[in-house]
Amino acid sequence: MTFKIGLLGLGTVGSGTAEILLDPSGRHPLLQEIEIERVGVRSLSKPRTIKLPQEVMTTDLEAIVTDPEIDVVVELIGGLEPARSLILKAIAAGKHVVTANKAVIARYGDEIYTAANQAKVYVLLEAAVGGGIPVIEPLKQSLGANRIQRIIGIVNGTTNYILTQMSAAGTDFDRVLAEAQKLGYAEADPTTDVDGLDAADKITILTSLAFGRRLKVEDVHCEGIRQVSTADINYAQRLGFAIKLLAISQCPNKEEPEKLQVRVHPTLVSQDFPLASINGVYNAILIEGEPIGQVMFFGPGAGSGPTASAVVSDIMNIVGILKSSGKTETLDPLLSCSHQDYATVIPIEESVTRFYGRFLTKDIPGVIGHLGTCFGKYNVSLESVVQIGFIGDLAEIVVVTHDVREGNFRQAIEEISNLDAIDSIPSIIRVL
Ligand code: HSE
Repeated sequence: MTFKIGLLGLGTVGSGTAEILLDPSGRHPLLQEIEIERVGVRSLSKPRTIKLPQEVMTTDLEAIVTDPEIDVVVELIGGLEPARSLILKAIAAGKHVVTANKAVIARYGDEIYTAANQAKVYVLLEAAVGGGIPVIEPLKQSLGANRIQRIIGIVNGTTNYILTQMSAAGTDFDRVLAEAQKLGYAEADPTTDVDGLDAADKITILTSLAFGRRLKVEDVHCEGIRQVSTADINYAQRLGFAIKLLAISQCPNKEEPEKLQVRVHPTLVSQDFPLASINGVYNAILIEGEPIGQVMFFGPGAGSGPTASAVVSDIMNIVGILKSSGKTETLDPLLSCSHQDYATVIPIEESVTRFYGRFLTKDIPGVIGHLGTCFGKYNVSLESVVQIGFIGDLAEIVVVTHDVREGNFRQAIEEISNLDAIDSIPSIIRVL
């Protein structure tokens, strides 16, 4: 018996997926029962390294998702449309779906999983977060006995590469970005990555699975790395921190499991924190749960082979079920997504965190006292205050706070920015 795949897209991940499926020897025997039936591409004449029989290839993607011969549709075209419509049509035609499309799932997961549950088909997405790193299935299955408390992830390789290079070579953001674009680590339009949007899609998906609630991606507080300067990276290092773009979700109060904090922003992390040493294009996701404690997943977050590894593992999961039980009359609750209720995302002003702030001030007596008084007025307790030196005739002062309600910190900063002695506040970064 063979199971037939309809592949939508033959780009980086599509080619990697086809390569694995065409070369099953030495891999799991189930792969020998999986066949590529059709491949949908935008252009048949585009030169490709992967060789597939001409009759398998088509530009008619709609015909693939409704083809009665096909068991599993693998959507690897990316983007919102036509990906969303093709996934919904595949579901309506009774096909199981495997996708790497975090943008579609983060925005239309509600619509897609409602349709999939009605049609009794699976929509699996291991490749959508962390590329080749197995994290979706562990969250659904291996960690299912835990009450998840917090997820902290480096889930975007492009920004991790840029911050690593800025930190290692002291090169500024624009130059490192240009180099990353030359090396193919950053897109020509880097917005999705550097502004944190890709990480926001990914933490939306992880949060939904970890906390069993739907989530609107637009509720995720999102800041990217454009404002991070080499000066801040240097000062952070001197204070014992690294700067990472973190995607964080947590349930601060287990008595109110529907209330979650979900955010993406550059963060100072202590150099001995496990995520501080994740460098270059690698991703890592730290999950904290009760009773397991901490568990960390690390590996290649992108790339043809690694991402295809995740895609094919999803195909195998579905094929394994089809092989053992035939048609899916009821869905396996460990593989499907059945949560209905939406999480309430706690406004960022209400979140509690530490802050790093850098101030340029006039070099006059009492400046540090003024800063301290303003912070004190809004209940912001300071962990350290360091005068780093001078830039021209301005003193450079770096402050790290204890945990503080973000709204209070913002009010203090507002008042400080109006003090005569303050020239500017070049950076404010949260501290884990
Ligand atoms: N652009 C993503 C990253 C990879 O830089 O991590 C695909 O999710």
